[in-house]
Amino acid sequence: MGSANDIPVELVEEIRGKALHAPRPRALTPEQRDALIQRIRDLLKANNAVLITHYYVDEQLQILTDATGGYVGDSLGMADYGNRHEATTLVVIGVRFMGETAKILNPEKRVLMPDLGAECSLDLSCPIEAFSAFCDQHPDRTVVVYTNTSAEVKARADWVVTSSNAVDIVAHLHANGEKIIFAPDRHLGRYVQQKTGADILNWQGFCVVHDEFKASELRRLMAEYPEAELIAHPESPAEVLDMASVVGSTTQLIRAAKESRADTLIVATDMGIFHKMHEAAPDKQLLAVPTGGESATCVSCAHCPWMAMNSLDNLAAVLEDGSGHEIHIDETVRRKALVPIERMLEFSRAQGKV
Ligand code: 13P
Ligand code: SF4
Repeated sequence: MGSANDIPVELVEEIRGKALHAPRPRALTPEQRDALIQRIRDLLKANNAVLITHYYVDEQLQILTDATGGYVGDSLGMADYGNRHEATTLVVIGVRFMGETAKILNPEKRVLMPDLGAECSLDLSCPIEAFSAFCDQHPDRTVVVYTNTSAEVKARADWVVTSSNAVDIVAHLHANGEKIIFAPDRHLGRYVQQKTGADILNWQGFCVVHDEFKASELRRLMAEYPEAELIAHPESPAEVLDMASVVGSTTQLIRAAKESRADTLIVATDMGIFHKMHEAAPDKQLLAVPTGGESATCVSCAHCPWMAMNSLDNLAAVLEDGSGHEIHIDETVRRKALVPIERMLEFSRAQGKV
């Protein structure tokens, strides 16, 4: 497997800086929380709106999404759900690429997000100019991009994938004899290469959350809990994935937690997932993979700083007045980005995965 150049140091620093300085929502009293929840319920009806929410956000938002008939899931499920739901306004509670995907698939709908400043370090580590120039240098390769990318990067791609279908899609392309550029997550790209044997040129982006999981501290935790099972998201480093018994998307990890025979699970992904994992596997003890310890301090500490920007406060505000919170995408870019996203959805639908 080959790799693209390392991400420039200045860009890495900029991304870490943004992660460290992402604004945190205020703490709410129970009275404030209940009042906001009631207001949001009324506003959802008034706006003919539905909530589409990722597992990593605050559990109050996940509970409210379930209680109002919305959807809580992984990136693939979120894209598919928004595409099928009849609401005229989709409120995507996650990070920006999730809202952009919803808009690419649903140009006729209003797509709102509680905070458009909710970024993703993978998206940030794959700027369109550098990525497009890299693709131009390898015109013989099929361009496969992870959904954690901008609309412009998707528009430059032949295929979009998520963590739940990346291995299957690349295996399919490899079987057709295609050589691949994979971007932007270096760990997912390496994992996909290992699983498929495909010829991959791998972009060197990273997730600020998963990249921080520490194999040495994890080994110690596993020694302390020898009966525990490790389940991991594929954005985690190779040393972590090599120790895991299940590697998969957030939805796949929740399913694995439910089906596991172990009483204790060590979970290598954002801690926001614990809400749904506890619901699915109430009797199991869930432990987070260490991010700091002796070898380092953490930036994200197992919780995505941009997912954490979503709150009941800014959700209520966006439903009161969506201006400044709506996703808009240039129509030429949107049409181009739609092609690889639909290709992915068709592939996963044919496999019965959505
Ligand atoms: P999933 O599609 O597995 O939910 O992953 C999204 C993500 O951003 C993981 O960090
Ligand atoms: Fe992006 Fe990582 Fe946050 Fe997922 S957890 S949205 S990959 S920064």
